[in-house]
Amino acid sequence: MPVLVEPDTNWASALTVALPAGTQVVSNAGQLDTWLTEQSNEYVALLGPSTDLDTALAIGESLRATHPAVGVVIVRTDPTSDVFQSAMQVGATAVTRADDLDGITAAVDRSRQTWEAIRGPVGHGGVRDGKVITVFSPKGGVGKTTVAVNLAIALSNRGTSKVCLVDLDLAFGDVAITLQVIPDHTIVEAVEAEEHLDFSLLETLMTRHEHLSILAAPTHPEAKARISPSFVRRVLQILREQFDYIVVDTTPAFDDHVLAAFEETDECILIATLDVPTVKNVKVAVETLDNLGVVQSQRHLLLNRADDEVGLTCQVVEGLLKMKVATALPTALAVATATNNGRPIVLSQPDHPVSKALIGLADQLRPAGAARTSSGTRPDAHAEEPAKRGVFSRLRK
Ligand SMILES: Nc1ncnc2c1ncn2[C@@H]1O[C@H](COP(=O)(O)OP(=O)(O)OP(=O)(O)O)[C@@H](O)[C@H]1O
Ligand SMILES: [Mg+2]
Repeated sequence: MPVLVEPDTNWASALTVALPAGTQVVSNAGQLDTWLTEQSNEYVALLGPSTDLDTALAIGESLRATHPAVGVVIVRTDPTSDVFQSAMQVGATAVTRADDLDGITAAVDRSRQTWEAIRGPVGHGGVRDGKVITVFSPKGGVGKTTVAVNLAIALSNRGTSKVCLVDLDLAFGDVAITLQVIPDHTIVEAVEAEEHLDFSLLETLMTRHEHLSILAAPTHPEAKARISPSFVRRVLQILREQFDYIVVDTTPAFDDHVLAAFEETDECILIATLDVPTVKNVKVAVETLDNLGVVQSQRHLLLNRADDEVGLTCQVVEGLLKMKVATALPTALAVATATNNGRPIVLSQPDHPVSKALIGLADQLRPAGAARTSSGTRPDAHAEEPAKRGVFSRLRK
């Protein structure tokens, strides 16, 4: 996969449009070095326009010695003939204009071809072993999509972890609209290929939002009927090989697709609010999870709108559900406003109490020993306990 060195988020967003899903964004040479040390299939490093030319050339020169199979693409707003000459001297693969997205895509593709000629096909090694996090509630409108989107952004930690957000609300999914992106393709376009599904097909269906890769829900509700539960499982298994975290947004019901997702789920975020019908339904959901053998340590109760003065309290909910609240989010107009503006609150107001709570939840979900969000370094996805895989698989043991 490509890795882009670009500290400026606006440039990073603009350039990743030209790059394949799963592209990693890092801010500086140190992060690039750490990233390349941990990866086995990065075939090109792009040095974005915010990195000054001397630094970009120094990185290029150093990569020639340390990672000779990794292509180096220097991206400049205004590449002069001097830039081309210096780039050639340090052995860069290409110099492209920052606004030439087709040129960037072509340069990346050439680097992939060179890498594959030397090392074999990219990205089918099945090694990353990411964590599937399913956001669920048996009630509609309680904040599942809001939490899934913001949690995915928090987990990506400005691109230091690879995150894919999967919209499994297959009839009425609204992840794309929440992020104000218009998907060119959706998950349903891969159903015919279920037998030989692989990441190279899935990545062509993804939509990019800053550091996130999104697998959008079909645009028409009737397409849901064409998607089988086994296909959902296969998609999640493939994504697990390519991303550090796969965040799954769901429908408000244990339908066959959600049950299939639970087969691959490592962590479940269960959302409740302070109203009796929701708490009653969440209690039934908890009992269902109990019957399915979902262990308590993999369930995280999130109380949304936790400050609503409606007679029920957090303590009463904990007592009824026999579960501690892991995260409580207050009601805040800023949440809905941020969503309506297409900049979810974790992005637009990272210091807001709702954002802080969700960033804290993201930190809890990182594997033990991994770096926390505030450190800005990449968590170690491989430190995860392999035994904690799939809530149903435990039933079969
Ligand atoms: N803590 C909060 N404070 C204020 N508004 C919130 C909060 N959480 C969610 N909302 C708003 O509530 C509405 C419903 O949220 P959301 O779409 O995330 O729910 P959902 O559970 O995904 O719904 P559905 O079941 O229809 O998919 C949205 O307008 C969202 O902005
Ligand atoms: Mg929703």
